[in-house]
Amino acid sequence: MIHLLNPVASLSGVVSLPGDKSISHRYAMLAAIADGTSVIAHFAASRDCHSTLQSLQALGVEVCASGETVTIAGRGLRGLKAPEAMLDAGNSGTTIRLLSGILAGHPFASSITGDESLSRRPMGRIIRPLREMGARIDSRAGELPPLHIQGGDLEAIRYKLPVASAQVKSCVLLAGLYSKGATAVEETIPTRDHTEIALRDFGAAVWNSGNWIEVEPGPKLKARSLTVPCDLSGAAFFLVAAALVPGSDLRLPGVGLNPRRRELLNYLLRAGLDITVENESEEAGEARGDLRVRYRADVLGGTLPPIRGNETASLIDEIPVLAVLGSQAAGGLEISDAQELRVKESDRLSAISMNLRAMGAEVVEKQDGLSMPGGSRLRGAEITTRNDHRIAMAFAVAALASSGETRIHDAECADVSFPGFWSALSRVGPA
Ligand code: S3P
Repeated sequence: MIHLLNPVASLSGVVSLPGDKSISHRYAMLAAIADGTSVIAHFAASRDCHSTLQSLQALGVEVCASGETVTIAGRGLRGLKAPEAMLDAGNSGTTIRLLSGILAGHPFASSITGDESLSRRPMGRIIRPLREMGARIDSRAGELPPLHIQGGDLEAIRYKLPVASAQVKSCVLLAGLYSKGATAVEETIPTRDHTEIALRDFGAAVWNSGNWIEVEPGPKLKARSLTVPCDLSGAAFFLVAAALVPGSDLRLPGVGLNPRRRELLNYLLRAGLDITVENESEEAGEARGDLRVRYRADVLGGTLPPIRGNETASLIDEIPVLAVLGSQAAGGLEISDAQELRVKESDRLSAISMNLRAMGAEVVEKQDGLSMPGGSRLRGAEITTRNDHRIAMAFAVAALASSGETRIHDAECADVSFPGFWSALSRVGPA
């Protein structure tokens, strides 16, 4: 589907966002291996989280979805059944990497694969620690899906993450539930900690000691009733849109504000955006609050704070839309240490620079980032999304602030993380 967008005069209203994708995956997987029935409200309706639910069903888990509420009958820590067919993680890196940690602890053979994009993404980063723990794993061409996993009792390991990745950290911690003794992971660059928080909430013993996170094996997780907060990474598109379109005023209620994800807000506030947070609360260890963003004329007058080092890891999913913002700041934006973007749903550094150039912006693509001198007025263009949801949504935001019509190709890929994105956008602005 091609989605047409034209510049808008202003954006206003309330944005209803989907449930957080990262948290939804974790709640579903932990509920599946808990004892008892869990009820998860405001579960992400995204295609990615659907892939997790489908895979769990193929592993014998009873899942009942009614609107945004998902009820999962847990089968206990070691209760998953051998699947009859290859599991399909679709487009979802989180599904294949986290679920592999759980499959490695089960004494049966299973295979898991994904779509064309996922089949190109590196899995060596999870294969290595899982093999070290004793799982037998085969893959295509050394490290690509499909993965064939023969699990069973695992050895405990102390593993230093070679790459800043919440998915790898989570995979090892989940496998640690099945190890003989405590398994520990060291992360020198902090990444999202939803797995640690959710594990504790479901009753697992998890400790932090310096950079190390340690998990005790089983014996049991307990079912929970939980509500997923709205996805801050989905909110990012609207926060940036309101910063680009004069006169905008948007409210985004109930957004997840976990400190490791909140870096986005800290960054946007440092960049000068007018964002307020109200009604902050916490449920199941996950902070949340209501956001309001208003257009402020001077935001685009200067240079945006550079994005580099640990901050790049914290903003990894928001960089496509932050690059759009940076291209419009008079003094531009420098993004470094972002080589991980080359192995996301698409090579995002290449996709961002190609599409920004198509819209008339100046951008230099570096091996590990982007350099944008800024200040070039965007014009409508044909956007090649490469079927990457975050590229589609980032360039929808760019289209609102450009001159002329923009055509976003394969726009339905937004459903991977944000089903209803196009109607949410049209409700606050473009017809
Ligand atoms: C995610 C972690 C990040 C992020 C992805 C979701 C997660 O990936 O990009 O969208 O839910 O753990 P990496 O851990 O590979 O950086």
